[in-house]
Amino acid sequence: MKMILVFFILIFPVYFAVREQGPPENPGLFNEFENYYDIHINESTIFLPDTSPDFAIGQALYIHGNIKISMRELTAYFQKYDTFRYGVRVNNTNLETLSFLQPWFVNPLDDSVNSVEITNNRNLTSLGFDFKDCTYCYGSVVITNNPKLNLKNDCDGIIAIYNTRRKISGNLADCGCEIIGGFNKFISTMPSSCWMLFGNVTIDENSDLGVLQKKFANVTRINGGLSVQKTLFTDLSFLRSIELIDSDPYQSTVFYSIVIKNNPNLISLGMHAKRDGLYLTIRDNPKLCVTPEELTNFYAGLGLDSNLDVTVCFKNETSPKWCELKNTTSLANLPEGCEVLVGDLVFDEDFDFENSYKLFYVEYIFGSFTITNSSLRTLNMLPNLIKIRSIRDNKNPIHISNNSGLHEIFFTFSFQGVESGESCVIENNPSLAMDVHTCSILKGRKEPKTGNNFQNCGDDTTTTSVRKYDSTPLNIDVYKGVPKFLEVSHAVDDPGTVTQNNTWDRNFTFIEDSDEDEDEEPEKSTSCFQKSIYLNITVVLLIFLIFE
Ligand SMILES: *[C@@H]1O[C@H](CO)[C@@H](O)[C@H](O)[C@H]1NC(C)=O
Ligand SMILES: *[C@@H]1O[C@H](CO)[C@@H](O)[C@H](O)[C@H]1NC(C)=O
Ligand SMILES: *[C@@H]1O[C@H](CO)[C@@H](O)[C@H](O)[C@H]1NC(C)=O
Ligand SMILES: *[C@@H]1O[C@H](CO)[C@@H](O)[C@H](O)[C@H]1NC(C)=O
Ligand SMILES: *[C@@H]1O[C@H](CO)[C@@H](O)[C@H](O)[C@H]1NC(C)=O
Ligand SMILES: *[C@@H]1O[C@H](CO)[C@@H](O)[C@H](O)[C@H]1NC(C)=O
Ligand SMILES: *[C@@H]1O[C@H](CO)[C@@H](O)[C@H](O)[C@H]1NC(C)=O
Ligand SMILES: *[C@@H]1O[C@H](CO)[C@@H](O)[C@H](O)[C@H]1NC(C)=O
Ligand SMILES: *[C@@H]1O[C@H](CO)[C@@H](O)[C@H](O)[C@H]1NC(C)=O
Ligand SMILES: *[C@@H]1O[C@H](CO)[C@@H](O)[C@H](O)[C@H]1NC(C)=O
Ligand SMILES: *[C@@H]1O[C@H](CO)[C@@H](O)[C@H](O)[C@H]1NC(C)=O
Ligand SMILES: *[C@@H]1O[C@H](CO)[C@@H](O)[C@H](O)[C@H]1NC(C)=O
Repeated sequence: MKMILVFFILIFPVYFAVREQGPPENPGLFNEFENYYDIHINESTIFLPDTSPDFAIGQALYIHGNIKISMRELTAYFQKYDTFRYGVRVNNTNLETLSFLQPWFVNPLDDSVNSVEITNNRNLTSLGFDFKDCTYCYGSVVITNNPKLNLKNDCDGIIAIYNTRRKISGNLADCGCEIIGGFNKFISTMPSSCWMLFGNVTIDENSDLGVLQKKFANVTRINGGLSVQKTLFTDLSFLRSIELIDSDPYQSTVFYSIVIKNNPNLISLGMHAKRDGLYLTIRDNPKLCVTPEELTNFYAGLGLDSNLDVTVCFKNETSPKWCELKNTTSLANLPEGCEVLVGDLVFDEDFDFENSYKLFYVEYIFGSFTITNSSLRTLNMLPNLIKIRSIRDNKNPIHISNNSGLHEIFFTFSFQGVESGESCVIENNPSLAMDVHTCSILKGRKEPKTGNNFQNCGDDTTTTSVRKYDSTPLNIDVYKGVPKFLEVSHAVDDPGTVTQNNTWDRNFTFIEDSDEDEDEEPEKSTSCFQKSIYLNITVVLLIFLIFE
């Protein structure tokens, strides 16, 4: 049904270059669900026009003045309308709510770039509909001078649909206060009602700590970027009430960032802000120590690339899911159940195979991962690894060298690559095929460096030898006496038999991701994005079919 509507909506403007009222001349284009006349409702409107109750598509809707029509009549009249080809303007009315509207597809008004204008409505307290549902609200939105209108709960929807294409001011609570001009000047005169800031918060050597402390006390959200550079502050606890710093990279025309850089006295952040849809840079703060909690928040939403050169400080209250790797290759001291490792993970000739089951749940490594001179064949002890993020500039995020038997790395679909300014280095692994796909996954801000592997990023001229035939290409064969791992055989036999009675077999049930997965958000938005692309493709195809 919706599909059919989209089809009609997109195809008609092709025929009507100049907008006319009334049904189309070509009867073949007539749509029984469409009202072909603009709807005007004003103070002299006593009755609503007697139109088909099946109408779902309108042209333009103008509501103006002291409306005498009751809310019940309005609700009944607009029951099925969700589409306005030429916009919605509600200006200077006495309405308290617009709950009779349920916009889903709205193009801009004739005389402006705005698809929806809600202005000067002195009694309006709530919108009564959710902009999130207005999937095809094009153009911009204007919501101004409605003195009783509190938009706090509507902002997410408005931002999701219109992002920066919005003008919102003069309401009881607006969707953020737009940062105009230099930030230091703006903040000193910012009204205390500004709970959300819209734009770039730029704190620098000229910022006044007293002003920041006072003005940020009630700010809970930044829709835009944050930059703290060249300050002498020892912490950023004046930002502690901020819960979210976000931007939608799919909608916004700019990519925003959180940048905390060149602050010589900064010891701790003291922030709780979650990052969603921004880049992250924290570096050149020589005294700074970032806590796992702060990092967890910074990676809570959709994260664009991160650029870190930081120390991570563990406290005794740090979540047990975060584990610090001491500078030792032994896994014996590693606790069980770690999901995030901080430090440099090294597999070498002393690889502690027996304790490697402790890596089973690891998803993220903040630091580096080295495999050198090992007898490993696969990395099946790390089936859940998702990402490796550098926290030191002098370390390659991944360094895999001199492993004669290694033929498979990051074989699972979960692995998403590295966030790093350094290259991954993979060399002298004669069995390892670094195919083009694997190389593209290992590309951070720099291309991976490969050489003397079985394959080297599609450049096969350096291949030295024919790959050796390996009859049992699994680690079990290398580490004699150590029992089998998951991949070899697991839970196929009855408890107590050989395959169950080993250090690999842990009492886990397959993890049904109940808790918040760090990367759930992006997947959601990606699939949503893709859905609308498919929708668009389908629409284009339909148009072609018609013209054929
Ligand atoms: C109300 O709208 C009608 C058109 O529907 C228009 O003729 C009339 O002038 C308008 N009245 C006022 C007071 O704006
Ligand atoms: C909104 O109403 C006011 C008061 O009647 C009028 O001055 C203004 O031009 C109207 N705005 C629009 C965009 O029609
Ligand atoms: C709207 O507000 C005016 C004051 O501006 C008031 O006189 C009027 O009764 C209100 N109307 C409604 C329907 O609440
Ligand atoms: C914070 O908000 C409260 C109530 O919303 C208000 O009373 C207080 O003055 C505000 N504080 C600042 C510093 O603006
Ligand atoms: C905000 O900062 C970003 C870079 O982080 C920049 O691209 C953008 O133009 C800035 N926006 C404004 C409004 O200053
Ligand atoms: C954490 O360590 C501090 C001292 O470093 C100690 O006073 C505090 O009791 C510890 N907290 C817990 C929960 O162990
Ligand atoms: C571990 O690192 C510390 C300081 O970084 C150093 O003093 C110590 O010798 C290192 N231990 C080993 C076994 O490398
Ligand atoms: C590689 O491992 C072997 C033992 O398997 C050891 O003798 C040799 O010294 C190691 N080489 C390097 C470069 O670490
Ligand atoms: C790899 O092996 C070569 C030759 O055996 C040796 O020169 C090199 O140092 C080794 N690299 C590492 C990282 O162990
Ligand atoms: C299981 O392991 C224990 C010790 O590790 C051993 O005593 C026992 O015989 C094993 N059971 C089976 C069925 O292999
Ligand atoms: C696994 O579960 C069994 C019974 O459910 C229990 O006896 C055993 O101790 C558990 N083993 C481990 C390593 O937790
Ligand atoms: C779908 O098409 C509309 C215009 O018809 C465009 O604005 C929108 O960005 C498209 N969406 C995607 C995901 O391509």
